[in-house]
Amino acid sequence: MARLKDKVILITGAGRGIGRACAILAAEEGADLVLTDIGVPIDSVPYPLSSSDQLETTVRSCREAGASVVARLADMCEMDDVRELVEEAVGRFGRIDAVVNNAGIGAPAGKAAHLYESEEWEILLNVNLSGPWRVIKAAAPILLEQGHGSIINIASTAGLLGYKHFAGYVASKHGLVGLTKSAALDYAPRNIRVNAICPGPVYDDERLDGHMTKVVADSLGIRLGDQEAIDLESVALNTVVSPRDVAEAMVWLASDGSQRVTGTTIAVDAGYSAK
Ligand SMILES: NC(=O)c1ccc[n+]([C@@H]2O[C@H](COP(=O)([O-])OP(=O)(O)OC[C@H]3O[C@@H](n4cnc5c(N)ncnc54)[C@H](O)[C@@H]3O)[C@@H](O)[C@H]2O)c1
Repeated sequence: MARLKDKVILITGAGRGIGRACAILAAEEGADLVLTDIGVPIDSVPYPLSSSDQLETTVRSCREAGASVVARLADMCEMDDVRELVEEAVGRFGRIDAVVNNAGIGAPAGKAAHLYESEEWEILLNVNLSGPWRVIKAAAPILLEQGHGSIINIASTAGLLGYKHFAGYVASKHGLVGLTKSAALDYAPRNIRVNAICPGPVYDDERLDGHMTKVVADSLGIRLGDQEAIDLESVALNTVVSPRDVAEAMVWLASDGSQRVTGTTIAVDAGYSAK
């Protein structure tokens, strides 16, 4: 039985990586999808963000899996973009059953907290923390009117623990965990659940155009192979996490199987944060 049959799910940052894995698994599980990504670079982010072609690749895979898909480019830093995205979703499907706040940036990073430029600090908080808040601001009225909904924030083990030379990212993800808990309390009386997934080190899956481990390695000025070895050494299980592992947790949180789960964080981290 498909776990997301008849559900409409909005996923941000769906152009590649974890967002693409979430979209494909949700499609395989019977969901219809609203997929979005930015499609252009951001000046203060030192690596390329997803292109419209990458988003289109995700869309194609989801349609092949049987999903009806609405796709739209939108910048999670722009309230108008987010509002129009939610309006298009409701216009097409009439409701939104789950929202996956996955869009995020892993850098600028690689230096002590006081060495960030103001614009570097601000873009991390703007995308990783204020972005999910904007989506909640636009989507919550719809979910409240429906009387149900599941909001899933893709945080990180960096939302639970510190990482040397990643203060901006860590602060943004701790903030996202805080937003998750407070919003869960705000909306619980109205049957809307809010949870966070905290992935640990995720490997760069080429089929998903994943490259976040490389972003981390580049930020620290070390080779990708060395970063992969550090990641492997840091987890309890003898393997790092795949984007599909994160997608599995997302599917559960979007499904009715998790209907009495709210305000929590699920670490999908191969035991990293247990150490
Ligand atoms: N890969 C990891 O090791 C890892 C670990 C823990 C948490 N995460 C989190 O998982 C999420 C997905 O990361 P990923 O590894 O797939 O990285 P990724 O860079 O491949 O994907 C992130 C997506 O977000 C999009 N995005 C960035 N800024 C945006 C904006 N302003 N508006 C709209 N879209 C925007 C990017 O274009 C990209 O497609 C992020 O929130 C990340 O912080 C990743």
